[in-house]
Amino acid sequence: MLEEEETEMDLKKTTIQTFQRKKEHGEKIAMLTAYDYPIANLLDAAGIDGILIGDSLGQVVQGGGDTLAVTVDDIIYHAKAVRRGAEQCLIVGDMPFMSYQASDEDGLHNAGRIMKEGGCHAVKLEGAGRFCGLIEKLVESGIPVMGHLGLTPQSIHIFGGYHVRGKIAEEAKKLYEQAKSLEDAGCFAVVLECIPREIAAEITHNLAIPTIGIGAGPDCDGQILVINDLVNLYPGFCPKFVRRYADVGGIIQEAVSKYIEDVRSSSFPADAESFSMKPSELEKAVEFLNSKREKMEKKG
Ligand code: KIV
Repeated sequence: MLEEEETEMDLKKTTIQTFQRKKEHGEKIAMLTAYDYPIANLLDAAGIDGILIGDSLGQVVQGGGDTLAVTVDDIIYHAKAVRRGAEQCLIVGDMPFMSYQASDEDGLHNAGRIMKEGGCHAVKLEGAGRFCGLIEKLVESGIPVMGHLGLTPQSIHIFGGYHVRGKIAEEAKKLYEQAKSLEDAGCFAVVLECIPREIAAEITHNLAIPTIGIGAGPDCDGQILVINDLVNLYPGFCPKFVRRYADVGGIIQEAVSKYIEDVRSSSFPADAESFSMKPSELEKAVEFLNSKREKMEKKG
């Protein structure tokens, strides 16, 4: 490829710098999760800014009750597929539960795998506090980090349920301080999940890096949703903050019911969906099969 063409293509690609520019120009950032090639391809073609291979896959792909069972290998497996499908957008791989909590060494090793093996451009991890040191080390190592605060699903058993976080002034203050510490540690963006819109707006206003909201109101610099929620492709609980843009689940179910009906009534496959032989070849084949049968019959 010519160097000039390469540069032109690279310019079209969304990077962490694009995210920052968008914040500075007041342009909203649209992100979604994706876990496979065809969906990633559709999102990328539609012009999505970023795809997260979220550990939400533990629920919406694997059918688990929470995100805790997801492994680094799961994220890498899905990231590889997403990467093949998406050429333009920024691809972020989630750091699953206990892939970084036990030690910074674990965090560096696993983030490195998600980048090297999964082909991600960045990683996301939940929390602040003692993880700020890890974030600094990751960024120093060349790994962009997206933070995640508020209702962080990996701490669900500490929270005791999927409830809005930061409704109490003291908690809101802590969220604000945590967001600032993530920015100071070098995060290029922060996901704010399920917090009051007023707090999200305040954090967004006071951070230089973009905030990406999910259930955090309209004033964040960007938004993210789980793709399965957006298109009704998950039979489990659907949170209040989701807007359903399509009923893909309904369309699939209707199509499958029709298919079952057609198979059972023998109207599928039709001629147009079948393959045929030339009559001369068919004649030879039938002759061969008949002689085989006759021989078998003679043998008894
Ligand atoms: O795992 C995930 O999909 C997420 C987003 C919902 C932010 O963390």
